[in-house]
Amino acid sequence: AKQIRPLIAGNWKMNGLKSALAEATAIRDALTTDPGAPEVMICPPATLLAPLADLTQGSPLAVGAQDCHAAPSGAHTGDISAEMLRDTGATAVIVGHSERRADHGEIDRIVLGKATAAHRAGLTAIVCIGETRGQREAGLTLDVVGRQLAASLPEGAGDTNTVVAYEPVWAIGTGLTPSNDDVAEVHALIRRDLEARFGAAGSRIRILYGGSVKPTNARELLALPNVNGALVGGASLKAADFLAIVRATA
Ligand code: G3P
Repeated sequence: AKQIRPLIAGNWKMNGLKSALAEATAIRDALTTDPGAPEVMICPPATLLAPLADLTQGSPLAVGAQDCHAAPSGAHTGDISAEMLRDTGATAVIVGHSERRADHGEIDRIVLGKATAAHRAGLTAIVCIGETRGQREAGLTLDVVGRQLAASLPEGAGDTNTVVAYEPVWAIGTGLTPSNDDVAEVHALIRRDLEARFGAAGSRIRILYGGSVKPTNARELLALPNVNGALVGGASLKAADFLAIVRATA
């Protein structure tokens, strides 16, 4: 699995004014183009997509968005289509983040529509799945993750247009992480399901871990089987922390 090029993506969530572009510039300038280097991406708030895409054009730092609407255009006040995101220079979009699922009622069917829109627009869909604390305590983790995966991924998913991010909801922003065995167990299930549905492409789709990834635990998490990178929240806001996580893939 380690011949898959890892992806380290930073999800800035609803953080970052124009002044935060300096952090992204510092990240850009520190990245190398070594063949062994991971792919690195920042997903800023929508307000910073265009300026960040301009700053990173031709650099190894990619830019992703955090959400999109399913339709290409139309009467949807306040929403942004995948085509519009692509037009900013972004190359990816996160869909189905647990905060969108919780704050905006995004059920799997809606996430599926957004991932389909991402593919239509030529964006990589970073599809997030993960169990709540209650679901884990009830022993439902594998059921929940398997069901979300099956229902959120479009038919046309493959290793070039799709990334899966496993983010246990209870590990997000809490400083808690599952045990190594628990992470490996869920990632193995995701891999098995991806291979069953998408064949060879499914064995190459990157599966990221997300939830309290820090410089202190990144190396250990990133070394686990079927962990092909990380989706990083809080620790992506400071260039030094984020770069330490990027270097932990080596
Ligand atoms: O999408 C990444 C995120 O949900 C994890 O957040 O702050 O726990 O790294 P954090």
